Amino acid sequence: MKLAILSRNTSLYSTRRLVEAAREQGHTARVLDPLRCYMRIACGDFAMHYKGRPLTGVDAVIPRIGASVTRYGTAVLRQFELMGTCTPNPSDAILRARDKLRAHQLLAAEGIHMPITVFGDNPDDTGDLLRLLGASPHVIKLTESSQGTGVILAEKPSASRGIIEALRGLYANFIVQEFIAEAKGADVRCFVVGDRVIAAMRRQAPAGEFRSNLHRGGTAVGVKPSADECEVAIRATRVLGLGVAGVDLIRSDRGPLVLEVNASPGLEGIETASKKDIAGEIVRFVAGGCTPVKAVRGRRKK
Ligand SMILES: Nc1ncnc2c1ncn2[C@@H]1O[C@H](COP(=O)(O)OP(=O)(O)OP(=O)(O)O)[C@@H](O)[C@H]1O
Ligand SMILES: [Mg+2]
Repeated sequence: MKLAILSRNTSLYSTRRLVEAAREQGHTARVLDPLRCYMRIACGDFAMHYKGRPLTGVDAVIPRIGASVTRYGTAVLRQFELMGTCTPNPSDAILRARDKLRAHQLLAAEGIHMPITVFGDNPDDTGDLLRLLGASPHVIKLTESSQGTGVILAEKPSASRGIIEALRGLYANFIVQEFIAEAKGADVRCFVVGDRVIAAMRRQAPAGEFRSNLHRGGTAVGVKPSADECEVAIRATRVLGLGVAGVDLIRSDRGPLVLEVNASPGLEGIETASKKDIAGEIVRFVAGGCTPVKAVRGRRKK
């Protein structure tokens, strides 16, 4: 099988591991920088070039599209889909997962529990918005947050109001959530491939910190997720239409709550914590025929 990995950087751990796993399983694998893919769009006729040459015959593409290139990267991926290439994570599914508000709405609509979340636009509504959420403490999150950098704990209502005013002044997009104190600074990343959780790790924040991100000094250990946690992780992945996802869950008194569904989950932390060949599992899933998005046919000339 001819596989392509859409990634900006060949030396990233996840990219390297996917190439390695593909070659181990007898496939050819090539890393394509999505920003060097360019496209011709004509009715019913889609073509792609890469660094001056046509790209043809790619059977499957594994997207590893970073947040900063979501728009262009998903357009490239969509072009591959239109050319009949299969992918475990279709472009529309990635876009659903990347848009936090949309993902929250879609998941909640399917009965998947998350920390209660509010968002609003106008400063005049802040008081009522916080009443809608409930008592402090609150967690305020920049919607573009990653590695825990834009996640703030506001212990008192006055702190929530102050932070919200400051963020509005900076024209930042954010959501506000109830604080799940009983999680005690831990979350569980379930790694879903197809319809299975193939590995999970529990991340624990250091003392005095509520964010469990490894970049914030958190530590990770492999764990066996509960049946409930597996079910929630698999359903969340399916609702967004993904084939491969890292689902972050927080353990609350009312059961597992979804924090985020990551469409390009990193492999280094989970392979180290679980000691499993996650890249190999992804390649096997892809080679087993992840369903291609149906190619759109151009209207025939009369
Ligand atoms: N509502 C909450 N209650 C308690 N702890 C929370 C809550 N939301 C987040 N946390 C903690 O903060 C960490 C970071 O939050 P979150 O994962 O939402 O943001 P991020 O890691 O910056 O972004 P992303 O995961 O979307 O890339 C979580 O891993 C979790 O440990
Ligand atoms: Mg996170």
